[in-house]
Amino acid sequence: MSGIRSVVRGIGSYLPANIVTNAELSARIDTSDEWIVQRTGIRQRHIAGEGEFTSHLGLAAARNALAAAGLQPADIDLIVLATSTPDQTFPATSAVIQAELGITHGAAFDVQAVCSGFVFALSTADAHLRTGAFKRALVIGAETFSRILDWEDRGTCVLFGDGAGAMVLEAVPVNEAGNNGVLTSHLRTDGRHRAKLYVDGGPSSTGTVGHLRMEGREVFKHAVGMITDVIEDAFAATGESAQSIDWFVPHQANRRIIDASAQKLGIAPEKVVMTVDRHGNTSAASIPLALDVAARDGRLKAGDLVLIEAMGGGFTWGSALLRW
Ligand code: UT7
Repeated sequence: MSGIRSVVRGIGSYLPANIVTNAELSARIDTSDEWIVQRTGIRQRHIAGEGEFTSHLGLAAARNALAAAGLQPADIDLIVLATSTPDQTFPATSAVIQAELGITHGAAFDVQAVCSGFVFALSTADAHLRTGAFKRALVIGAETFSRILDWEDRGTCVLFGDGAGAMVLEAVPVNEAGNNGVLTSHLRTDGRHRAKLYVDGGPSSTGTVGHLRMEGREVFKHAVGMITDVIEDAFAATGESAQSIDWFVPHQANRRIIDASAQKLGIAPEKVVMTVDRHGNTSAASIPLALDVAARDGRLKAGDLVLIEAMGGGFTWGSALLRW
C-alpha cells in the first residue's frame, strides 16, 4: 500500500453558458450588488439550463480532464463523483457519467459531503488507488445547486452557482512518482451541526427534494477555525507550511472566509486562488473548478505544492496537500 502514490495527470472543468449577475438578482429579489459583493465577494454565477443536469456538467468536465491528461475513457477504472445534487436519488450520477464515457469496467460511485465533497472524493480515490486495486481514477465534483435553492430566500439564493470540475489521478510506484502526487488528506465530520446547513427534504423523510436552508452567520462562525485546524493537520503530517506551499486553492464559499483563513495561517495573498467572484459557491465543484482556472492561466505548474481545503454541511471539513 505504501509503495504507490496517486499522481495528478490532468484537470478539467465545465460551466453552464448562462451567467446570472448580481444586478439580475437585484431585479428579482430584495438584494443589491453592493451587499453581495461586500459580504461574499460574489459578482456572478453560472446557472444550468433547462434539461442540463449534474451528469451533463460532470461529463463535460471529465472529458476536459481526460483531454488534458492525454488519456482515453478506457484508461479509467474508477470514478468517484462528489455531489449533493444527483440527477436522481439512484442510480449514482457517476454511473450515468461512466456509461456516457463508454466505460464498462471498474467501478463508479458517488460521495456526499456537500461543499467538502471534492476533498472527500479525492481522499477516497487516493485510498483506493494506493491499494493497487485500481490504476486510474476520475475524481469529479459536479453540482446543480440552482435546483435546490429557494429563489425567494435572499439569504441563500445569491450565494450559489452550478458547475463541475474533474481531476485524473494515476497510481504510480513511489520511486517513479518522486515527490509528486497526493501527499496527505484529512477528513472530519461533526453531525451535531447538521441543522445549521441542510436541505429540508429527502427521499426517506418527506419524499421531496427540498430546499437548501442555512444559518449563514452560524456557519461563518465555525468556518475559519475548522478550516485552519484541518490545514494544520496537513502541515503536521508532511512537515510543509504556509511558507512552503505554492498555491492555496480553498473551497469558494465566501471571500471573507478565504481571506481570514489565509491570514490566520500566514499564507501570502498572492498564493490564494480566488474564483468565488465569477463562480459563486459551486459546492463540491468549486475546488476542481479553481484548480482548472489556475492550471489554464499558467499559474499552476508541474512540481508546485498545492493546498486544498473545504468546509460545509454536516458539518464536514477536510484538507489535502498535493504536488502537481
Ligand atoms: O459552502 C458551505 C459553507 N457556507 C458558507 O461558508 C456560508 C457561510 N456564511 C456566509 O458566508 C455569510 O454568513 C453570509 C454571506 C451568508 C451572510 O453574511 P453575514 O455577514 O453573516 O450576514 P447576516 O446573515 O448576518 O445578515 C446581515 C443582514 C441581515 O439583515 P439585518 O438582520 O441585519 O437587518 C440580513 O437580513 O443582511 C441581510 N441580508 C441581505 N441583505 C441584502 C441577508 N441576505 C441578504 C441579501 N441582500 N442577499
